[in-house]
Amino acid sequence: MNDLNFLGICGSLRSASRNMGLLRRAAASLPEGVRLTIADISELPFYAEDREKPESALRLIEQARIADALVLACPEYNYSMAPALKNALDWISREPGSLLAGKCAAILGAGGGMGTSRAQYHLRQTCVYLDLRVLNKPELFSNAFSASFAANGDVADNPEGEKLAANVRALMEELARTVRERKV
Ligand SMILES: Cc1cc2nc3c(=O)[nH]c(=O)nc-3n(C[C@H](O)[C@H](O)[C@H](O)COP(=O)(O)O)c2cc1C
Repeated sequence: MNDLNFLGICGSLRSASRNMGLLRRAAASLPEGVRLTIADISELPFYAEDREKPESALRLIEQARIADALVLACPEYNYSMAPALKNALDWISREPGSLLAGKCAAILGAGGGMGTSRAQYHLRQTCVYLDLRVLNKPELFSNAFSASFAANGDVADNPEGEKLAANVRALMEELARTVRERKV
């Protein structure tokens, strides 16, 4: 029986996204009792206050409502977080009742040489406003253009990929530990 429900959101909509590959790897290496659902935000329109909520937004909001924690895969676009990720958080944030307040979150990312660290620090700033409790450690900054990734975006089945997979697993373990501690 799963007692914890994580929601993964990926800021890249690319079909062979390595950031999505990180989320798939996270979903495949969860501690016992944890389930990770990956949100489909590919059809989510840009948020506008006077726009009726489309099905894609309603689904995302419900997934966020029932999630115990978020796992945010954060690509870096022009030194900041990708708009698709920010937009998903914007949709969730406009629901009455501060859906995300007090929930835990983990951030990971695949990008250029700095592993999306600049984007992740912008994302952390947004998470302050949302009152998400983001893990400080372990940090996960991975190089998207290394042997750690296969052409389809999956974490590669080689020594570099195994090292990255171990870091993803460690992050999921810490997230599960933190959520369970807070639930007691
Ligand atoms: C518009 C755009 C801007 C980018 N800017 C940066 C950047 O500032 N820093 C960086 O490390 N990578 C940058 N990249 C590279 C992305 O981080 C890289 O494409 C990454 O693999 C995207 O993740 P994905 O494989 O999940 O799509 C940029 C890519 C795009 C499309």
